[in-house]
Amino acid sequence: MNWEECEDYGALSRRAAEILLAAIREDPRVVLGLPTGRTPVGMYDRVIAECSRHYHCFRDVTTFNLDEYAGIPREHPGSYCAYMKQHLFDHVDIDPANAHIPGGDAPDLDAKCIRYEAEIAGASSLGLTFLGLGQNGHIGFNEPGTPFDSRTRVVELSHSTRVANAGLFVDGKVPARAITIGIGTILDSKRIVLLASGESKRDAIARLRTGEVDESFPASALWKHRDCLVLSA
Ligand code: GLP
Repeated sequence: MNWEECEDYGALSRRAAEILLAAIREDPRVVLGLPTGRTPVGMYDRVIAECSRHYHCFRDVTTFNLDEYAGIPREHPGSYCAYMKQHLFDHVDIDPANAHIPGGDAPDLDAKCIRYEAEIAGASSLGLTFLGLGQNGHIGFNEPGTPFDSRTRVVELSHSTRVANAGLFVDGKVPARAITIGIGTILDSKRIVLLASGESKRDAIARLRTGEVDESFPASALWKHRDCLVLSA
């Protein structure tokens, strides 16, 4: 595992954007795994600013989001669909058909999960995946105790995750369930970059640094990957 300690959130965002844009330059058809949450907002802002100068950045890129809440419509302001439109998709030239989010409003969620996993496999798996980090070590919505070989599926969110994400819902009502790609799906990605910023992530980063690999701490699975970079600030 490689580590880069950034001076502050701005530096972390610049570095993450630089990695994302370099991956597109290197392979304009790259398949990206994309996170949501507060941490990647600065990265997306910088990517958009850069893409306005080089308009065709995302024309041939495919993206798969890591997760989505279950039981809320795509238009719900708290949904990750709404988040991605606001923070990236509405501002770059991505083909909407290539921007995948595991719709949590599908009538049959289990079937949706199987299809989503197959779509990722059909794209030859993820090329470069960015991850955020939950305070309890979750990646995507893979909560503590998730098997490291897990695949895309419906999950119950932990109380602490729902509390941590309540601020992103105007009414504070965070759905109880979500769809997430699995830890196995994440580990299949050719490259991984984990982003963690701020005081609330210090303990999780310190635990990750110990190198102890245990399913009670999902992010520790990343030690099993041969090309993972942790960017912290
Ligand atoms: C949510 C997302 C995760 C994300 C985490 C951290 O739970 N499902 O993918 O990594 O939040 O979010 P934040 O960056 O807001 O701390």
